[in-house]
Amino acid sequence: MYTSAKTSQPVTPVSVTSLRKMREEGTPIACLTAYDASFAAQVDAAGTDVVLVGDSLGMVIQGLDSTVPVTVDDMIYHCRATARGLERAFLMADMPFASYAMPEQAIRNGARLMQEGGARMVKLEGGSLQAELVYFLTSRGIPVCGHIGLQPQFIHRLGGYRVQGKDEAAAQAMMDDARALCEAGVDLLLLECVPAALAARITEMSTVPVIGIGAGGDVDGQILVLYDVLGISIGRKPRFARDFLASGGDISGALRGYVEAVRERSYPAAEHCF
Ligand code: KIV
Repeated sequence: MYTSAKTSQPVTPVSVTSLRKMREEGTPIACLTAYDASFAAQVDAAGTDVVLVGDSLGMVIQGLDSTVPVTVDDMIYHCRATARGLERAFLMADMPFASYAMPEQAIRNGARLMQEGGARMVKLEGGSLQAELVYFLTSRGIPVCGHIGLQPQFIHRLGGYRVQGKDEAAAQAMMDDARALCEAGVDLLLLECVPAALAARITEMSTVPVIGIGAGGDVDGQILVLYDVLGISIGRKPRFARDFLASGGDISGALRGYVEAVRERSYPAAEHCF
């Protein structure tokens, strides 16, 4: 028998304002990816604050070797399904590869993710070069998360998934990117595969909440790919990943364990950081 993923309990949904309040109060923000209604409901029930429909779906759902082939229609399909499973968590969706190369195209695709997919924020990769686009989108009502550090959509230029910002020049460039994105109006920043010390510097100078993946513990929140948390991702396990299913016993225990570990800052531990 099928039942609705939603309960009848009234809840206050997470918003951009409550995420800012969490940063101000020093409450770590727990974020996870999800791609469908059933997992979204589990992730939401565990107390996750932000759910990202990531273009990582290309790898973990579609079995591709990068995020590059993922389309806007793929994103909308998974976003709409995920939205149906959520009650409290804030839904963010990735703008996939080359879907935001031009402003008119970006606003059309960002609006589709919000109107057809139910997203409340879009995430896009890139630093200072995206500042004008961020201003264009946010000033037209599309909240944006700026994704810097390792940018998987650039994989064919980078040649591999590596830690970014390791030398002082690269670290300075990343700080400049973060500053430019904040000034342009982003509502969130996401740092991927960044040395913990650099992520801490960026978090300190940021004007918006900073979420990290492989970016150490001195950020405002953590995000992981759901299938890494459940230990079922295909291929090489990234250093920052932790399988919470082993300790959690079942899916809901694993997800609650993840949220708790983020809140009490026991995840990430030193072995998950660069
Ligand atoms: O696509 C994704 O899942 C992401 C996370 C790695 C943050 O961008």
